[in-house]
Amino acid sequence: MDARQLKIEAARAALAHVEDGTTIGIGTGSTAEEFVRLLSARVADGFVVKGVATSERTAALCRELGIALTTLDETPHLALTVDGADEVAPDLALIKGGGGALLREKIVAAASDRMIVIADGSKLVDVLGRFPLPVEVNRFGLGATRRAIDEAANRLGLTGPVALRMTAGEPFVTDGGHLILDASFGRIPDPRALSDAMHTIPGVVEHGLFIDLASLAIIAADDGIKTLESTR
Ligand code: A5P
Repeated sequence: MDARQLKIEAARAALAHVEDGTTIGIGTGSTAEEFVRLLSARVADGFVVKGVATSERTAALCRELGIALTTLDETPHLALTVDGADEVAPDLALIKGGGGALLREKIVAAASDRMIVIADGSKLVDVLGRFPLPVEVNRFGLGATRRAIDEAANRLGLTGPVALRMTAGEPFVTDGGHLILDASFGRIPDPRALSDAMHTIPGVVEHGLFIDLASLAIIAADDGIKTLESTR
């Protein structure tokens, strides 16, 4: 099966967890978009669901495909969010933000009782860090924030380039109007320590380490669907 088909299979398995008449968080990225497409087909058949989109890109796709949207202001507590990930560790710690939506993704996941992660098998890793860690930062003080991230990482024995994400020759700007630094530290043996350290840096808006947020990962590979569960 090609990568797209695997994403579709993971998305299809997640759809079984969505109950009629509920409001759910809807993630961002190519896998989440397959979920949106499958969900829209159910909606066209009369299934009732409202979504809280984790990005403008996802919101636009939902509108295009006829999925009703709401906000966390109207519905501050969700039973379920379905989203993709850039990396999934065996304990369901994640790296997210490859698509630049990590802040809204984390806010929506944290407002949800359950977060189901959908991915193809290439996202499963023993230790997080092969994928550069996205860190959303305020534009003001970019240089100082980058230096502080470097120093915090160094104190934890992590080193590597911290690069400003660019798109078409310009800095990538998130839906929240911030910038993204992609930190290539390699293996992150203690994601919680790095998460805590980055949360002490004032210019860091949020980072892409998702710890204790995912409750179920649905991983589709050529040999079938594998699920990983946490106690959350
Ligand atoms: C968006 O900011 C990301 O967190 C995505 O959820 C993640 O990058 C997975 O995207 P793909 O499904 O496209 O790999």
